[in-house]
Amino acid sequence: MTALVRDEAVVVPVSLGSRSYEIVIGRGVIGTLGTRIAELRHGAKVFFVSDENVAAHAMAGTQAALKRAGIANSQLIVPPGEASKSYRVFEQVCEAILDAQIERGDLIVALGGGVIGDLAGFAAAVVRRGLDYVQVPTTLLAQVDSSVGGKTAIDSRHGKNLIGAFHQPILVVADTALLDTLPEREFRAGYAELVKYGLIGDAAFFSWLEAHWRDIFDATSSRHSAREHAVAVACRAKAAIVGRDEREMGERALLNLGHTFGHALEAACGFSDRLLHGEAIAIGMVLAVEFSARRGLVAAGDAERVKRHFAEVGLPTSPTAIPGPLPSLARIMELIGQDKKVKRGMLTFILLRGVGSAVIETGIEEREVRAF
Ligand code: NAD
Ligand code: GLY
Repeated sequence: MTALVRDEAVVVPVSLGSRSYEIVIGRGVIGTLGTRIAELRHGAKVFFVSDENVAAHAMAGTQAALKRAGIANSQLIVPPGEASKSYRVFEQVCEAILDAQIERGDLIVALGGGVIGDLAGFAAAVVRRGLDYVQVPTTLLAQVDSSVGGKTAIDSRHGKNLIGAFHQPILVVADTALLDTLPEREFRAGYAELVKYGLIGDAAFFSWLEAHWRDIFDATSSRHSAREHAVAVACRAKAAIVGRDEREMGERALLNLGHTFGHALEAACGFSDRLLHGEAIAIGMVLAVEFSARRGLVAAGDAERVKRHFAEVGLPTSPTAIPGPLPSLARIMELIGQDKKVKRGMLTFILLRGVGSAVIETGIEEREVRAF
């Protein structure tokens, strides 16, 4: 584990009154997890939820950090993948927390990617009517998006993330060195959510990503601070949006750019390895910007620019890039209609007015989307 200089961490505050917390970002910051927890909840026991892949790489070092701070811990390791955001695994997590005699005042720690964060966070939201939890995100996607903002959920047969709660963590510790073991395909998928922040509100960041994306990917890059910088920019953007609109009554919906198309494609692929969440969102964002261009909202050149960047990074940019057969258009439209962003039969899409400027468009007729 990388030696740690605590002052090297970037700390991003999430301002939510009594539910405020910090996001600590940097290489090696996991080493401070124990002291940070002890400062926040003196005497608390910790229950880890993780998955098999993450635990193999990161559990021993993380537990050592807790041990140094004298914090007792127990754990449940679940299988990796979206299938763990199920009622069955959720029940196992809740019962294991109770078996471990975790009380109010103790802590759940989600050590993993977005699947673990969503699953453990939802268990924390409901076990004993609410336990505090800490997010230790280990994928790029989780570090730039899912670990921040308190959305927790499992999946229903009706769709993704339909059973859940808003429950903010009390701390997020994003150690960028943990990303060194992430498979490249997963890293790339997470990068799609990073691009999202440039597209929805920060044109300069999108331009910076176009110039520097290789430094973010390359674990051996001498310009490694590019990765930390990118995670910090994303977290600041997300913290600001969540601070203004925690419950997604308005602006927070912008973070769903690409998600209506993306979730439908993910569902069409049975939430399998055929299409990772971030890959689906990359295709979804390209479709959203192309749909925006079709509606005259954005210049065709901007749509081309967005597509070109995703293609350069190696992300899929069209449903035709998905291996294997896709369901019929009728089925895909049905899946789009099941997305939670449907109001009174009309569809809501997050569209672009330009790179760095997103807008919530309500009242889009189904037939227009079908034609597109
Ligand atoms: P994931 O948690 O399944 O992780 C991807 C894969 O990488 C898994 O196989 C995992 O075992 C492995 N892995 C994780 N960290 C690793 C590491 N450091 N080294 C080696 N392998 C590692 O997937 P994800 O892409 O992180 O998250 C996707 C999920 O996040 C979806 O369920 C999505 O709905 C959810 N999500 C939630 C929010 C939110 O706001 N709550 C936002 C975006 C996405
Ligand atoms: N990932 C979308 C949100 O947190 O609102």
